[in-house]
Amino acid sequence: MDNRFYNIGVGAKSLEPVLKNLIKHLKQEKTIDEFALTQQQISELGRFKHTQIIEDIGKFKTPTLRNISLTAPYMHDGRFWTLDDVLDHYQSGVQNNPTLDPQLKLSDTEFGISLTDDDKTKIIQFLHTLTDQDFLEDRRFAEF
Ligand code: HEM
Repeated sequence: MDNRFYNIGVGAKSLEPVLKNLIKHLKQEKTIDEFALTQQQISELGRFKHTQIIEDIGKFKTPTLRNISLTAPYMHDGRFWTLDDVLDHYQSGVQNNPTLDPQLKLSDTEFGISLTDDDKTKIIQFLHTLTDQDFLEDRRFAEF
């Protein structure tokens, strides 16, 4: 977590059909409220909803990874139920879009982070080390 906002291509596909027209609309100094969007598309706008800066479309704040093994589902819309799914996203699920973070651009046509299956296993093992045992002993989390 670095308290910054990034577009990591989680739900960009749902905005794709309207994105060009939306940007054109915003460049004409019109507000987002005058543009028809579905609930899902509104959620995919991310930080843009607060800043109204076009470059912020699809950016979300990096969440803490502390106790991450206990806090599924993951991402802003809770689309991933396991850490394996999250790592699959970084390995092969990143959806390209105009504000995708450059760190997730492998080439002009490939997006994500280059990870072997062994890397994924080790990263997940590491993420499990971020679990606070005191937190686990809290009665509210007894079922974990
Ligand atoms: C192998 C490297 C990485 C790992 C293991 C990792 C792990 C994770 C995990 C487990 C989550 C879900 C957190 C939650 O929902 O509570 C997450 C979300 C997120 N990560 Fe990463 N991450 C990695 C690389 C990156 C990079 C390079 C960036 C920035 C360019 C980034 C930015 C974010 C953001 C913005 C979210 C929130 C996305 C959303 O809410 O839709 N991560 N990451």
